[in-house]
Amino acid sequence: MHIDETEKRWVWITIIMTAIMVGVLTAYAVGSNVHPPSGFEPIDSTRLHVEGEFMEENLGVKTNPDGSITLTMVAARYGFYPSSIEVPVNTPVKIRIASADVLHGVHVPFTNYTTMVVPGYVAEVNTEFQKTGDFSLLCNEYCGLGHDHMWSRLKVVEKSGS
Ligand code: CUA
Repeated sequence: MHIDETEKRWVWITIIMTAIMVGVLTAYAVGSNVHPPSGFEPIDSTRLHVEGEFMEENLGVKTNPDGSITLTMVAARYGFYPSSIEVPVNTPVKIRIASADVLHGVHVPFTNYTTMVVPGYVAEVNTEFQKTGDFSLLCNEYCGLGHDHMWSRLKVVEKSGS
């Protein structure tokens, strides 16, 4: 089979370009430790309000013995509960959130807190807020007609005693 020289050259150029792009992506992913979420924690989303960690009285901010914070939340059409949260700055925060109905997302602009909240699973994010101030917790997955109005307040305050 005869392949024209120009065509052969371009086949090689394409292969080399693809190899470079895959190489750059792989190096970036390995170098910056990018990986898909590894936790796998199923939960019965229809029973969140009936029992366990995500019942209304168990939601909110808890301070652990080591000084870190656990923040437990529920996402449901169309809000995040509790709707107003206060956490200390520069403190490790473990955020655990579950959906009571459909797929939601949480995004807090100007921080690295962002996750999907898939019904049937607990979404967990470990972070530390670096700046004090008022932030908005926004839903970033379309979840229905009220999606635009699904948000709540996050206040990052000075550590008590400092
Ligand atoms: Cu919840 Cu969009």
